[in-house]
Amino acid sequence: MSDPVPFRNRLAKNLRHWSRWARRQDIECFRIYDRDLPEFPVAIDIYAGRPHVQAYETRWDADEQTHDAWVDMVRNTVGELFGTPPGELAFKVRRRQKGTAQYEVTGRPPAPFVVQEGGLRFEVDLHRYLDTGLFLDHRRTRAMVRDQAKDRRLLNLFAYTGSFTVYAAAGGAAASLSLDLSNTYQDWTRRNLGLNGLDLPQHRLERCDVMDWLEDSPRLGERFDLIVLDPPSFSHSKAMQTTLDVQRDHPWMINRALGLLSPEGTLYFSNNRRGFKLYEDELTPCHVEEITKQTVPEDFRRHRPHRCWVIRRGSWKPGLK
Ligand SMILES: C[S@@+](CC[C@H](N)C(=O)[O-])C[C@H]1O[C@@H](n2cnc3c(N)ncnc32)[C@H](O)[C@@H]1O
Repeated sequence: MSDPVPFRNRLAKNLRHWSRWARRQDIECFRIYDRDLPEFPVAIDIYAGRPHVQAYETRWDADEQTHDAWVDMVRNTVGELFGTPPGELAFKVRRRQKGTAQYEVTGRPPAPFVVQEGGLRFEVDLHRYLDTGLFLDHRRTRAMVRDQAKDRRLLNLFAYTGSFTVYAAAGGAAASLSLDLSNTYQDWTRRNLGLNGLDLPQHRLERCDVMDWLEDSPRLGERFDLIVLDPPSFSHSKAMQTTLDVQRDHPWMINRALGLLSPEGTLYFSNNRRGFKLYEDELTPCHVEEITKQTVPEDFRRHRPHRCWVIRRGSWKPGLK
């Protein structure tokens, strides 16, 4: 059985360090622990003072009893540090992403609350789903999108709870279209826009399978100046015709998205599949620049959570924004 003392000490030290860092940056949602100790393969994020714990499946070689005792120990240690009763602690087991597992409900009742990021407001729920509603590792990417959004048209593919859309709208985007398969998440996007006074007719939400939509997109004739393509690693649901595998499908998705980009437009492509390789050879002529070093924030540097690229059309010339 692992000794909880080093874990408790490390957590307390990290909490002090990252809380100071976050205060200086005016950030209230951040990561304080990311598998620092091999015996404790968990990630702990703070959402406005409340902890959210994700355990990785690495420990599943332990027998059930040992694993349960370990989970209790982690719960107690984190609960004690934050003054949260262990039963009320948001504690998720994150399996390797397969199918739709990432979006499963936990069976817990809704417990939404509002957090601030970049001067904007977002609804999060630490208990209801495996994910919270706000992916903290893209904090910087969202700020980049806001900085470029003025008077531009945004297409947000796989929009989830619309955090990129909210940032773009706040940055003065002329219009946006956010696509997601899930009504639950589209409603959440609507609420996030509303929380920021940005639920306006020019910010359209459409519930659809992005793969089907991209298939039809050449016929739509619409063009966008900013596209965010941040797909799940894998996806499959009853509403989808086919499965999605970002490793297999990304050239097709990027090529389709490039077809929708205005000549001077910018496409942000990101994903968090482990071991992902960008098949540049399969892309239509374009400019590709990896910007992962700029997009991964300091509090996520221990384990790179995503990779991110800026992609522009082949006709794009440096100097154009
Ligand atoms: C990884 S999240 C995207 C994260 C988002 N870009 C953000 O930064 O908040 C994946 C989202 O893709 C949606 N999704 C999965 N498969 C889809 C599909 N085929 N078409 C549309 N949305 C899909 C899910 O409902 C979920 O909201």
